Amino acid sequence: MSTPSLLILAGDGIGPEVMTEVRKIIDWFGAKRDLAFDVSEDLVGGAAYDVHGVPLADETMAKAQEVDAVLLGAVGGPKYDDLDFSVKPERGLLRLRKEMDLYSNLRPAQCFDALADFSSLKKDVVAGLDIMIVRELTSGIYFGEPRGISVNASGEREGVNTQRYTESEIARVARSAFELAKRRGNKVCSMEKANVMESGILWREIVQKVHDEEYPDVELSHMYADAGGMQLCRWPKQFDVIVTDNLFGDLLSDVAAMLTGSLGMLPSASLGAPMENGRPKALYEPVHGSAPDIAGQGKANPIACILSFAMALRYSFDQGAEADRLEKAVEKVLADGLRTADLMGPEGGSPVSTSAMGDAIVAALDASL
Ligand code: NAI
Ligand code: MG
Repeated sequence: MSTPSLLILAGDGIGPEVMTEVRKIIDWFGAKRDLAFDVSEDLVGGAAYDVHGVPLADETMAKAQEVDAVLLGAVGGPKYDDLDFSVKPERGLLRLRKEMDLYSNLRPAQCFDALADFSSLKKDVVAGLDIMIVRELTSGIYFGEPRGISVNASGEREGVNTQRYTESEIARVARSAFELAKRRGNKVCSMEKANVMESGILWREIVQKVHDEEYPDVELSHMYADAGGMQLCRWPKQFDVIVTDNLFGDLLSDVAAMLTGSLGMLPSASLGAPMENGRPKALYEPVHGSAPDIAGQGKANPIACILSFAMALRYSFDQGAEADRLEKAVEKVLADGLRTADLMGPEGGSPVSTSAMGDAIVAALDASL
């Protein structure tokens, strides 16, 4: 098979800083695990606007469609706040998601033991937590028509958004969740509001149908999304994979993410339909933004972006064992007490820099051989 290709779009603010550390990791896998990647780099967000006058050039978009995976840092910053909406940095990212049709957004909530004290929940509730929220990303109420603000028959203004899902849109994200579950704890919980929403009734029916016809060996349960939010806070370890729609997924993945601590720790993947080589269209990125308040100071935590690359190893390149190796290396440096500033409580301490954290993870990878 040909060398797998990776397009790096570092973006703005701390994006390039954390991506520098990811490059060290990528190089390590090439040198020490014989896992070479054909890496190319390009511009996105404000960085692309500065050069091309648009937040994502057509050539970059075309490249993103061709590679095996895209790795993105972050976009945006105060310098671009006054730009017209159509060329704002975020539009670059939205264009990628839309044109690559990345309908399945994976947001893991994983709690490293060393950080269990950092959670707002009790240590035994979150220690060892490892769940995955699969959020439908390209349909539902954020896209449904009709939408808008208009004046109704009684002369009053009304705001309208429409929750709309087709059978095939539900089926494909359900498949994505079942496939994931097979590689994890073999358990899927689907969340909607079938008690009050027709789209929820259809959602439940189609998820059940995909399960019965294609994944009968995966354990499936259904839960109302509000109860799901409560259960996530009460006893999150009952879950393995959660699949839900765009709106509920937005809320529930933020809740789940915060069970585990800092924004600087959270990776994500957005997957689309399988390409000819069987790999899904894929974009991996940290959940955080460009953090202008700390950009350029060597303070950013690179772990979210590094764990996003671990997800790429697992979901795009079938290197689950190497992904485990990388996650264990992260776990080890945290257990050794290394902390970037965002991982310290109000009492403070002596934080390590972005590059020192990256170097320590590389050293832990070396030690794993
Ligand atoms: P943000 O995620 O950039 O920052 C929120 C807070 O978390 C800041 O105090 C920041 O210093 C801290 N933080 C974030 N990532 C960190 C890391 N890796 N290490 C240590 N601390 C970290 O969100 P904010 O401030 O709302 O937005 C800043 C800019 O980023 C805006 O222009 C926004 O539009 C953009 N943004 C871009 C996203 C993306 O590229 N996917 C996502 C969210 C925001
Ligand atoms: Mg959100």
